[in-house]
Amino acid sequence: MTELIHESASFRRACDEARARGGRVGLVPTMGALHRGHLSLVEEAKRRGCDHVAMSIFVNPLQFGPTEDFDRYPRTLEDDLRMCREAGVQTVFAPAREAMYPPGFQTHVDVERVTTQLEGAHRPGHFRGVTTVVAKLFNLTGPCTAVFGRKDYQQWKTLERMARDLDMPVEVVGAPIVREPDGLALSSRNRYLTSEERSRALALVDALRAVADAFARGERDPRALTSLAEARLSPRVDRIDYAALADADDLTPLERTPIPERALFAIAAHVGRTRLIDNLVLGEDPLP
Ligand code: PAJ
Repeated sequence: MTELIHESASFRRACDEARARGGRVGLVPTMGALHRGHLSLVEEAKRRGCDHVAMSIFVNPLQFGPTEDFDRYPRTLEDDLRMCREAGVQTVFAPAREAMYPPGFQTHVDVERVTTQLEGAHRPGHFRGVTTVVAKLFNLTGPCTAVFGRKDYQQWKTLERMARDLDMPVEVVGAPIVREPDGLALSSRNRYLTSEERSRALALVDALRAVADAFARGERDPRALTSLAEARLSPRVDRIDYAALADADDLTPLERTPIPERALFAIAAHVGRTRLIDNLVLGEDPLP
C-alpha cells in the first residue's frame, strides 16, 4: 500500500510510526517525473535494509535560477504514484509549495567549498536551494538512510557533507547512474528532447567514453582529457557549460599532470533548450 501525504506533520508521523514498529526508514528525495533512475534508488534503500521507503516529490523552487525551467518542469503525479505503488514505496510525501515555504520563511543551509565548482559555478544559488530543502526533508523524516543518484554527483557529495557537518542522523548513500541501452543517462529532462536532440545528446556519453578510453590507455594529462571530451561535444551540443576533472571526494579542480588514479570527469552541456549533465569516476566506474 502506498500512502500519499501532503502535510509535513503527517509525513513526520508516518516516519515515526515506521520506526516505532522497529523498521528502518529509507528516504528517496525527488522532484517527480519518475523514471527507472529514481526507482533504482528505492531498490538501493531496500537493499540496505530499509523496510519502510518514503519518497518525496517536490519541485523545489529554491533550487531553480530565474532563467531556468521551474515553470515547465514536468509534473506527473498520477504516473509517479503508480510507479511508486509498483515499486513498493510505502509513503509518498508531495507537499505544496506553501507547506515547505510558508510566509516568513527565511532560513537556509549553505555548504561551502564542495559547492563552488562545476554545477555551483554555473547555477548560482542552486545548491543552497538543494541543501535547504533536503535539510528540511531530513528533519521531517528523522533517522534514516537517504539515497541519492551519482548522476548528480556533486549534489550527493554536498549532501553527504551537510549531514556530517550538521550531525544529522542520516546515512547518505550514492547509487550508480542508470542509463538507456545506448548509454544516455536517464533524466526527467530527457522528455524535453526532440528526437533530433535526443541523438545529439549522446555526445555526452560519447565524450565520457573517449575520456575513459584514454585514461585506461594511461593518459593522465588533464588538458588532453578535457580536449578529447570537448572535441566530441562541440560539433553536436549547442553549448558546453563545463567538461572538467575534479577530485572525486572534495570536487576541487584537477589541473596538474598526472591526475590521480581515481578522478571525477563531469560534463554539463545544452542541447536545444535542455541542459544535460553526466559524469564518470575514472579508475572506478565501468565504461558507460
Ligand atoms: P531529481 O532530479 O528528481 O532526482 C532525484 C534523485 O534521482 C537524485 O538523487 C538524482 O541524482 C537521482 N537520479 C536522477 N537520474 C538518475 C539516474 N539516471 N540514475 C540514478 N539516479 C538518478 O535531484 C533532485 O531531484 C533534487 O535536487 C532533490 C535532491 C530532490 C532536491 O530537490
